Amino acid sequence: MENAGRIDPWSSEQSTDYSRIVQQFGLSSVDSSSLPNPGMLHRRGIVFAHRDLDVVVDSMTSNDPFGVLTGLMPSGRMHLGHSMVIEQVRWFQEQGADVTVTVADLEALATRGTSLDKGRETALREYVLNYAALGLDPDNTNVYFQSSRPAVQRLAFTLGQRTNLSEFEAIYGFNGESNLAHVQAPLVQVGDIVHPQMEEYGGLRPIVVPVGVDQDPHLRLTRDIVQKTNWFNVKHRKSGGLTIALSVQEGNHSELGVTESGKVDRSTREGVITRIVDSISDLGFSDIKTNPKHGTIEIPGATISDRSRIRMRVLSLEREMGGMGLAPPCSTYHRFAVGMTGDKMSSSKPETTIFMDDDIDVMTKKVKRAISGGQSTVEEHRRLGGDVSKDVAFQYLQFFFEKEDSALEEVKRDYESGRMLAGEIKQICIESATDWLNELKEKRSHWEDRIDEFLAPDAL
Ligand code: TRP
Repeated sequence: MENAGRIDPWSSEQSTDYSRIVQQFGLSSVDSSSLPNPGMLHRRGIVFAHRDLDVVVDSMTSNDPFGVLTGLMPSGRMHLGHSMVIEQVRWFQEQGADVTVTVADLEALATRGTSLDKGRETALREYVLNYAALGLDPDNTNVYFQSSRPAVQRLAFTLGQRTNLSEFEAIYGFNGESNLAHVQAPLVQVGDIVHPQMEEYGGLRPIVVPVGVDQDPHLRLTRDIVQKTNWFNVKHRKSGGLTIALSVQEGNHSELGVTESGKVDRSTREGVITRIVDSISDLGFSDIKTNPKHGTIEIPGATISDRSRIRMRVLSLEREMGGMGLAPPCSTYHRFAVGMTGDKMSSSKPETTIFMDDDIDVMTKKVKRAISGGQSTVEEHRRLGGDVSKDVAFQYLQFFFEKEDSALEEVKRDYESGRMLAGEIKQICIESATDWLNELKEKRSHWEDRIDEFLAPDAL
């Protein structure tokens, strides 16, 4: 039952077909040329898809606040696979994001039986310390524990009202035998994802969640639930432009001008419509048509790129009027680097990956044994060249160790042309990995006694 319904990108050949994943999950492809200072993972197509990343980019370019949130399961040792998201978090932070890090200690208790004490120990020693070593800035990083942030648990409970067991069966494969702690964990994750928008955690602003595709069900669920709470929906208008439509729901009848008998109270309703129109007045749309009775405001001149700006305005109005005013989370999706044996990377199979604190000779042995894209004889290799798509050494340079695009290109050219042999590319990988591991080790010892600087007050 563990991981029921989770998407395992390694479960079949097809699921690593990324363009298919984009289609199937309704994602958008990442166009790195549209990003300001695209990071290495964007330039190399490793971050391949997103939802609403344009909203975040908009905040970046206009110097508006935005946040990034990531979460970790405090179990096992941290390895290369975990470092990718942190690299992205660091990039967002450099572009101006505040950073929230969830220690999913309740989820680890529920799904892996990790006690909260053990989870805390592992999170601090293994994950937070390495996050620090990977270069997050403590000045605007806040690490918290699911178990000690009541706001998150309160949201999990409140937002739980907007979903039901059938939906959970469909998304996660739960059934009558499912452990109820497993069932609660996704709602806590919804709370994690949403809570940075609350006033006491930074207020209304876009929040981006960089993940692997296996986490997308949680993001879809969160977006779905958030949308159900919204008092004002900003939708496509059939004949062009956008429409803002009131969503009358339990808890907002009187505010939106619906009487107890279900009739529209004209003066209240007109007041609401006026407030909405006022809230977007400075965005400069010339022709706005309102229909108080239907509770709609049509903006024919608005384009899809105006949507998030309008949405932010009506969300803040919703908050003034007593609603939650929650924005849907933005997200990005990264490819998975192949495991060293050709299987999936896993903490429980040390030979499949490199741990953040592996000794150099342990790492060296793993790289030497790793799957190679070289040909079976030197003669053949010189003639046909190496296959970078199958080569662990090349992929690890590409995903993790070689920061210079030009150096990576050169390795690729030499390897594919047959000038460079499989043993030689492995040697290059070993050298870069050695530098990488040594630097991490040094940084870890620098931060070892100072990780409190990364912790939120409720995590101390
Ligand atoms: N479910 C995530 C995992 O299995 C951990 C997690 C909990 C998380 N809350 C989160 C990830 C919020 C991203 C955002 O690793």
